[in-house]
Amino acid sequence: MRKTIQDLAIAGAQPAFGSPLHVGRPNIGNRDRLMERINDMLDRRWLSNAGVYVTELEQRLADMLGVEHCIAMCNGTVALEIVIRALELEGEVIVPSLTFVATAHALQWQQIKPVFCDIDPESCTIDSARIEELITPRTTGIIGVHLWGRPCDTDALQKIAKTHNLSLLYDAAHALGVTSSGKMIGGFGDAEVFSFHATKFINSFEGGAVTTNDPELASRIRLMKNFGFSGYDNVVYIGTNGKMPEVSAAMGLTSLESMDEFIAINYRNYLAYKEGVKDIPGIRLLPYSQEEQTNYQYIVLILDEEVAGIRRDKLVEVLQKENIIARRYFYPGCHRMEPYRSQQPQAGLVLPQTEKIVTQTIVLPTGTDIDLETISEIVDILQCAIGHAKELNSIIDIQ
Ligand SMILES: Cc1ncc(COP(=O)(O)O)c(C=O)c1O
Repeated sequence: MRKTIQDLAIAGAQPAFGSPLHVGRPNIGNRDRLMERINDMLDRRWLSNAGVYVTELEQRLADMLGVEHCIAMCNGTVALEIVIRALELEGEVIVPSLTFVATAHALQWQQIKPVFCDIDPESCTIDSARIEELITPRTTGIIGVHLWGRPCDTDALQKIAKTHNLSLLYDAAHALGVTSSGKMIGGFGDAEVFSFHATKFINSFEGGAVTTNDPELASRIRLMKNFGFSGYDNVVYIGTNGKMPEVSAAMGLTSLESMDEFIAINYRNYLAYKEGVKDIPGIRLLPYSQEEQTNYQYIVLILDEEVAGIRRDKLVEVLQKENIIARRYFYPGCHRMEPYRSQQPQAGLVLPQTEKIVTQTIVLPTGTDIDLETISEIVDILQCAIGHAKELNSIIDIQ
């Protein structure tokens, strides 16, 4: 147990960890099974274009999520771009600013203005009560983000979309294996988009998928992700290359086979962090709903600087000096990133909750690489730092 600030790396002690602990260090799953699949793929010499692994992954995801159509993609960002185009969105689309920048970029990339909406501070997802005031004659859609695996208020969003005749798309990059009112994320809105990027708890190295119950939309997306080809030499649509390669699908299938184990480890870690930080003043662990199924893949601390007596960025610095690469997701909010900062300098005025939370979050490492001993070490560092906040502030200020 650390007793004084001299025990912290920021004050000159040895870092707690010899190598960096990253948020989103990949879960690997059964390596032998992965290699078997890769060898099989090489033997068959079929590396892309509707291979057996991509087809199997699409089927498995559709079955698991209870949706009619699943289209695997090269990554979540291109999947978003393609669905946005397939839905014929244009003009303005309402999105939360508190998200990974890809959600906004996927719109801006095709000359659609992202109109930033504030979040509900409890769920950290788009505040449905703030959407209607942002609708203009140019609005064509809404993108909800199930941030950190917390489902959006899908009922409220559906109602708004229906009333105003808007498309409704979900960025479900964080929400594989999550339910909303007992129903799996994947079948809400017009379509949902998943990411299987290496940092996601189920990964395919790079990868993503679109799920939808709309057969026409699904077939447009399938055409668009393959240059618009409908059979040999027959291009019937404008398209791009959004295909997932077989090697990614092999990894995705292998990851999925370990999904229960990954979630169990995430849950164990979540409970350990929850217990560990419960008495630390000024720190709150963002809770997961007990009523819904979830993946527990993000450990998000909310810091009340007044109570803790230390600024969020300083606490992050303390952790990083110990080789705990804590992150400030999603600082500073899309509206404060380019090109949005220049194009919409007033956007922050309607985003008070977003502006507040981006100064409070600390995302900590979890996943299969993090054990209970590591968590108790991290908790001990947090305890020591906040217990000596005053001294620490002056030390860091002098440096
Ligand atoms: C909320 C969110 N949306 C979209 C993406 C983009 O997914 P990808 O990295 O697969 O392109 C990510 C993360 O990577 C994300 O966190």
